[in-house]
Amino acid sequence: MPTLTLKPSGKTLELPAGTQLLKAILDAGEQLISKCGGQASCGACHIFVTEGRKGVSRLTPAENAKLDTLVGVSSKSRLACQANFLGTENVTIELLGALSG
Ligand code: FES
Repeated sequence: MPTLTLKPSGKTLELPAGTQLLKAILDAGEQLISKCGGQASCGACHIFVTEGRKGVSRLTPAENAKLDTLVGVSSKSRLACQANFLGTENVTIELLGALSG
């Protein structure tokens, strides 16, 4: 069964297909700020998908527009509130700014 691995903690999760990445991250006890309640408007849930990008749902227009306004965006960037784990392949994501503690 494909898994979702969180970096830097290294936690590996088995999730149902369609699970929102933000929910998976928070349910795993990781800290990720969500200021807008998952509306693709705050950008605080910016993460990198470092492996298995095809195992994550496609960029939404709202997500794409918000990412254009953020600093430090790369081709790996996603908004965790807009991306769902598809369950088709293993996915690794990197939480940005979660290096303290
Ligand atoms: S929680 Fe605000 S953009 Fe994702």
